[in-house]
Amino acid sequence: MLGSSLQLLLCLTGGVSALCTTYLESCKAYPGTSSWPSAYTWAALNQTLNGRLLQPPPPGAVCHPGQPTYDTSQCPKIADEWKTYEFHAGNPISVMWDKFDNYTCLPEENTPCSPAGYPAYVVNASTAEHVKIGIDFARKYNVRLNVKNTGHDYLGRSNSPGSLSIWTHNLKTITYNPGQYKLHGSGKILQGNSITVGGGSEMYDIYVAADKHGQAIVGGGGKTVGIGGYITGGGHSIFAPKYGLAADNVWEMEIVTPGGDIVIANEDRHQDLFWAMRGGGGSTFGVITSVTLKTHPSPKILSVVYMIFTDPKESIAMDLITYIISQIPSLMAQGLSGYNLVTRNMPSPIQLPGIPDRIAGFLGTSILQDVDSPDVAAKIFNPINDTIRERWSNKVQFYTLLTEYDSWLGWFDKNFDSSQAGGSQYLVSRLLDGEALTGNPKKLKSALQAAMTIGDGETMSVFMVGGKGVQEAKPRGGSNAVNPAWRTAYVHALTSQSFGPFNKTAENDVKAGLDKEFQPLRDLTPKSGAYINEAFPFEKNWQQTFWGSNYARLLRIKREIDPTDVFWCAPCVGNERWEVRDDGKLCKK
Ligand SMILES: Cc1cc2nc3c(=O)[nH]c(=O)nc-3n(C[C@H](O)[C@H](O)[C@H](O)COP(=O)(O)OP(=O)(O)OC[C@H]3O[C@@H](n4cnc5c(N)ncnc54)[C@H](O)[C@@H]3O)c2cc1C
Ligand SMILES: *[C@@H]1O[C@H](CO)[C@@H](O)[C@H](O)[C@H]1NC(C)=O
Ligand SMILES: *[C@@H]1O[C@H](CO)[C@@H](O)[C@H](O)[C@H]1NC(C)=O
Ligand SMILES: *[C@@H]1O[C@H](CO)[C@@H](O)[C@H](O)[C@H]1NC(C)=O
Ligand SMILES: *[C@@H]1O[C@H](CO)[C@@H](O)[C@H](O)[C@H]1NC(C)=O
Ligand SMILES: *[C@@H]1O[C@H](CO)[C@@H](O)[C@H](O)[C@H]1NC(C)=O
Repeated sequence: MLGSSLQLLLCLTGGVSALCTTYLESCKAYPGTSSWPSAYTWAALNQTLNGRLLQPPPPGAVCHPGQPTYDTSQCPKIADEWKTYEFHAGNPISVMWDKFDNYTCLPEENTPCSPAGYPAYVVNASTAEHVKIGIDFARKYNVRLNVKNTGHDYLGRSNSPGSLSIWTHNLKTITYNPGQYKLHGSGKILQGNSITVGGGSEMYDIYVAADKHGQAIVGGGGKTVGIGGYITGGGHSIFAPKYGLAADNVWEMEIVTPGGDIVIANEDRHQDLFWAMRGGGGSTFGVITSVTLKTHPSPKILSVVYMIFTDPKESIAMDLITYIISQIPSLMAQGLSGYNLVTRNMPSPIQLPGIPDRIAGFLGTSILQDVDSPDVAAKIFNPINDTIRERWSNKVQFYTLLTEYDSWLGWFDKNFDSSQAGGSQYLVSRLLDGEALTGNPKKLKSALQAAMTIGDGETMSVFMVGGKGVQEAKPRGGSNAVNPAWRTAYVHALTSQSFGPFNKTAENDVKAGLDKEFQPLRDLTPKSGAYINEAFPFEKNWQQTFWGSNYARLLRIKREIDPTDVFWCAPCVGNERWEVRDDGKLCKK
């Protein structure tokens, strides 16, 4: 490479023009500037795509007089649907959290509305070839590239203003492969059942397809979470404690690279890319157009719902919470996996005589797989109940509710994540290892206490999605890019805090508050990290926190496969050379 001052000199003296272009274009092309491709150029792209180029209006525009799509009858409907994941997943540009389109067109009449916060154009891709055409265009014309699947992302990685967006939603093919699967471009045949799904497939569609064959995948808790962002981040699951993370169950991927090549990556072909795409993060190394996942027999499920709580006014609340959390490695070793909520003080979800209006303690929705009898749950919990009686006699109440389901899908249909989309929030999270959970109860207690100060309702989620399966996973090819912190973790602990639109102070308060309240948990787990897909976007040492010792190799692969940063997002591997300026432009630092 030429030194930059030499490049500049060549430009000024009218020298080599290609060099000048790269030197002078220190920002990605932006709509309304001279670097932006002409209408004619966009029309030609549309033709190459057989008319699949979209220029979608902001979905909230129906609520705004003066906008071409203004429609008073549509507005209340859209405002209502805004709270559902399905709405945003089905729209080419909308994402779940308002903050990430900079509130540029909320479905509320007396707010501003412009397309400024959204991608400028969208490739409605249904084949790898469509994806390739979009990537090639973005590379050639220096246009910022965006990849949107469902828009679930909690870190805002699926929306970029003024970009060309690849919308992967319609890459939806699903094929079940019984018995064995032959890797492409390799002599290898993998034994067992698998399923090959388009990069835009959503969890529920895959669950239903696999269930027809009595199978299940390592998948997430939300119905509409998309496979593209989920797998590239790692993908935690109620099955992970048994079978490893979703990324540990990938056999093969079809990927369109930043250079526009459509490649099959597996343990024998494009190994670096195969390694990086399983945990290295979305929209960084390429676009997944299809992925083959190992499936597992759908288990019978014993649903184990429990509430272990005291009155928040009791001084024992934090001791109780700390004790139960310290029992998690043991509970998981006995087969329990699932989702807990711990609280220092929240309204009781059930109103019964003898139960206080507000409670402090530990609530969970967990499962046991393929157990002979519900008694197994009682056996697992009896020692905990005994200890509680012994230590705190009658100050603590402990209820369990057991329900049997014939299949994974049967359980999921009743227990999927039914939270709402819309509004804005940030998350903060940490992966907790055995040492943190059992090594020093005093430190654990104070860290947990700090972590439950500002998060919505003084609560924290404690997901039992690590453990044996994740710690001992054997990903194809020997390893993958999943954060090594997962390999010692039992628990993914997280909390969130929402904030209203157009109030920078409120947003900054939330950022500062979340960062501070998880610091003691970070200090408790200095060798651990956090799960990229459900994380604080502003982690100070984010490369280390999200990828640990894998970062160096990921960065090398990023530089090799995408030397000119066709793909860029934050916080994403190799993004250090660019920044988003206050005016929304993406520019070299
Ligand atoms: C209700 C809800 C439930 C959740 N449950 C779980 C859970 O149980 N387990 C879990 O691990 N996570 C869970 N998550 C987090 C989830 O993993 C992330 O939100 C993830 O980013 C979603 O991916 P997506 O493709 O649906 O979303 P998007 O927001 O569309 O994409 C996320 C990221 O992936 C990139 N991307 C999308 N598709 C592709 C592709 N085909 N190729 C390359 N890059 C791509 C995008 O550019 C972006 O960077 C949940 C989130 C929500 C909102
Ligand atoms: C692309 O072409 C199709 C079909 O000709 C047309 O309907 C669509 O509006 C065009 N897209 C853009 C962005 O102009
Ligand atoms: C995108 O393409 C699919 C076909 O793959 C089509 O059904 C759908 O209507 C298109 N979406 C838009 C918004 O044009
Ligand atoms: C815990 O023990 C108490 C007292 O022995 C008993 O009444 C209660 O049912 C037990 N709870 C559970 C969930 O086993
Ligand atoms: C913005 O948020 C801050 C902090 O939450 C609050 O004190 C203030 O009243 C809000 N301002 C407006 C205009 O709502
Ligand atoms: C977000 O919108 C505000 C106006 O509400 C604007 O000042 C700011 O520049 C925008 N930010 C980006 C990154 O575009």
